[in-house]
Amino acid sequence: MKSRIGVIGGTGVYDPEILEDLKEVDVKTPYGNALLYTGRFQDTEVCFLPRHGRTHGVPPHKINYRANIWALKKEGVSRIISTAAVGSLNEAMPPGAAVLLDQFIDFTRQRPLTFFEDGREGVVHTDFTEPYCPDIRASLQENTAAAGLKVINYGTYVCTEGPRFETPAEIKMFKAWGGDVVGMTNVPEVVLAREAGLCYATVTLVTNYAAGISSTLLSHEEVLEMMAENIEKIRDLIMNTIGAISQETRCSCGQIPGKMEVE
Ligand code: HPA
Repeated sequence: MKSRIGVIGGTGVYDPEILEDLKEVDVKTPYGNALLYTGRFQDTEVCFLPRHGRTHGVPPHKINYRANIWALKKEGVSRIISTAAVGSLNEAMPPGAAVLLDQFIDFTRQRPLTFFEDGREGVVHTDFTEPYCPDIRASLQENTAAAGLKVINYGTYVCTEGPRFETPAEIKMFKAWGGDVVGMTNVPEVVLAREAGLCYATVTLVTNYAAGISSTLLSHEEVLEMMAENIEKIRDLIMNTIGAISQETRCSCGQIPGKMEVE
């Protein structure tokens, strides 16, 4: 089978209707079932997975990240573009800007973080020098102008456990430690994708300045409103990129030693 492109939709990105021949699929995995949609965009087979469920019913710390990545791999996906809403710690990344992540810092606390849990496959330490696929990042960068988004080509994502927002003291620390944006979902998604040998990149949309930098209290409504305002541009960026991604890869995401295989 020609490999498929996976799209993981974050907050505000739930709608697979843009795809032709749309089918809802409930994929059984060793970690529980995962809901996704298969379909076609132009000549490309696509799997769309709404990370928080179709109606935003699943909070960040309860997302079944392992089932989601396993299911995408099972459905023949080799490359994933994901979206995420983020708060900004960096004045050069204002609300409304899109940030293409290139690094992350993990501050999660209670999530299963690996497919290599029990040493059955031997002890596996996966390289994360370049956490996000350089090929997909390059394709995204090539397609930003057409989408009309202000795009920043780098950014360090700090992943918190949530579901609460951060304190200003935490944000001050994250900023001092090199964070640019903060969110609650990119880890372990990015980790599991690499362990599975899949290419993975994330387009984030800055929905607010982070706690203590923003002059107002934070709310989920504010995040949703900003996503809604920019959803068409994000969708254009992703769809243009899907059309442009070639089947050939130059990256080494798929060549990691001992990667997770689906049965
Ligand atoms: N913090 C954490 N997650 C977020 C934020 C934030 O400020 N904005 C959007 N997602």
